[in-house]
Amino acid sequence: MSTVDYQISSEEEYQKAYQAALDNPENFWSKIAEQFQWKNKWNKTLEWNFEEYDVKWFLGGKLNITENCIDRHLSEKGEQTAIIWEPNNPKDEVRTYTYNQLAQEVNRFATILQRNGIKKGDRICIYLPMIPEAAFAMLACARIGAIHSVVFAGFSAKALCDRIQDASAKMVITSDGLIRGTKKLLLRNIVGEAIADCDSIETVLTIRHTGDEVETNHLDKWYHEEYAALGEGEIHFEAESMDSEDELFILYTSGSTGKPKGVVHSCGGYMVYADYSFRNVFQYQDGDVFWCTADVGWITGHSYIVYGPLLAGACCLMFEGIPTYPTPGRFWKICEKHSVNQFYTAPTAIRALMGCGNDYPQNFKLDSLKVIGSVGEPINEEAWQWYSKEVGKGNCPVVDTWWQTETGGIMISNLGNIGEHIPTYAGLPLPGIQPVLLNTEGEIIEENGVEGLLAVRHPWPSMIRTTWGDHERCEQVYFSAFKGYYFTGDGARRDEKGHYRIIGRVDDVINVSGHRLGTAEIENAINAHENVVESAVVGYPHDIKGQGIYAYVICHVFPEDEKALRKEITAITSDIIGRIAKPDKIQFVIGLPKTRSGKIMRRILRKIADGTSDQLGDISTLLDPSVVEEIIKGKK
Ligand code: PRX
Repeated sequence: MSTVDYQISSEEEYQKAYQAALDNPENFWSKIAEQFQWKNKWNKTLEWNFEEYDVKWFLGGKLNITENCIDRHLSEKGEQTAIIWEPNNPKDEVRTYTYNQLAQEVNRFATILQRNGIKKGDRICIYLPMIPEAAFAMLACARIGAIHSVVFAGFSAKALCDRIQDASAKMVITSDGLIRGTKKLLLRNIVGEAIADCDSIETVLTIRHTGDEVETNHLDKWYHEEYAALGEGEIHFEAESMDSEDELFILYTSGSTGKPKGVVHSCGGYMVYADYSFRNVFQYQDGDVFWCTADVGWITGHSYIVYGPLLAGACCLMFEGIPTYPTPGRFWKICEKHSVNQFYTAPTAIRALMGCGNDYPQNFKLDSLKVIGSVGEPINEEAWQWYSKEVGKGNCPVVDTWWQTETGGIMISNLGNIGEHIPTYAGLPLPGIQPVLLNTEGEIIEENGVEGLLAVRHPWPSMIRTTWGDHERCEQVYFSAFKGYYFTGDGARRDEKGHYRIIGRVDDVINVSGHRLGTAEIENAINAHENVVESAVVGYPHDIKGQGIYAYVICHVFPEDEKALRKEITAITSDIIGRIAKPDKIQFVIGLPKTRSGKIMRRILRKIADGTSDQLGDISTLLDPSVVEEIIKGKK
């Protein structure tokens, strides 16, 4: 690992760093940023305005993030492993790449992009399985200065099409197929369907992975052919000089209204914070093997499979498969096989594996583990305890990391073994992060031992810069609810010592198995069925998924065969969004509880869905209170 002086190793150092960042954020981040490789130093550290949203870090600085992820490590650790790839099928061969090999792969990939007309600023959509080429593709884009937009390969053709259109992407990088567990998807065929309506696409670059036969057309280029055409020799691709504030990537995420929005991150600030948060939260030491089980299609994969670990010169494991294939012992087997030191996963996976019994983790040697992490949704106490005891064997700190696509990196979390670890509490904010709890009036709640709305009052380097093509939306969503603050959309509790516990979303966003979905987005999909008049979707507590999707649906003609219509509605949500958006429960209703102004009272629907309809409170202001009775009677 390149030597840095900003890795905190004690509670005292944490306190000092936190205070330093509070007293003089610019000086704090500037000293950290100096330890990266810049082509040109910045002339101003920070400019910001939360009223009319604008944030810029390291102004005038020039860099390329891939020189920091790869080139600067080569002299000392060119022969050290950068990526270990564990395939879906445990019998298939593991692939490993040293930093030297990674450099070659990325230089070659960038050359292929250039030969296919890609230039700085172009948008490239990446729709790939969890294979090393996904990381190479992202880095190749960054090297040439193209903006990547990775779309999770579980999204449908329609969802992919929306994202390609929104970003006017010029190229899609995909593979013939994807295999997870026993399920196969022919990605190139899905891309074919998606791009039928996307005029911006000039090339489809397809990586041969599963060897399946797929439909191609005049836009296609096979990656292995392009690669072979480069010949055998070593290739160097000069990294493009990027401004600190040039866009590095777009990542689409759901909000409470409208279509998913493209969260934009920029080169300089994201780089500094991805590295800083990675090293400190996971307390990574040279020679460790770090494993994050997320998919690169989500922000967790961006920051803690690709950018964070590589910036720190770490060895990072990437896994193609699922936790339960071929058995629910797979995660633990991989930890044993590769002597994983830091393991980072989601509560949904923990709960699912907990349900499979203690024999699985007990059958494997897990003593290499030093830090185990959780991300994406609140972790309930039972799952936290099981994780700590059965996986961490009681001597690994659990880091419950709270953050968001928009924050770019972990914001609130314990740092490895440092400080107190309280089940279900994420802990303290990282140095440089200034969270506040607000009341509904937007006033700061100063005291501890309270609940409130979680906001942030000062910029940090990796914060969202804009939403692609629509800056107003960015201002509206994050900076308009409470003037002068970035509003997270989450509610939180702060204990007497200042530790934060995240309660969950306070808006119309639900978190299903750690996947973030807007209720409006699911409703729009359901409403696309010809027999649907209107629908309302809410989340309800689900043992494994954290939250399940409960849909109340009004039909033109009440279905004779409810089961058949449920199946059709489920199919439509899969088609329009993806399988992650399938409702768990669908209840056909004759009306929805609405106010006199026509607003659906979701609070009531949530209470019915979670079985607390005895606590509905005052419903007399509803246009027609009798629908509530009907809905309670028909509850699924
Ligand atoms: O509600 C919070 C929840 O996930 C949301 C962000 O989702 P996304 O942008 O998809 O990013 C997920 C991975 C960073 C947050 O608004 N969330 C994330 N981490 C936690 C969490 N809720 C509770 N505890 C966490 N550790």
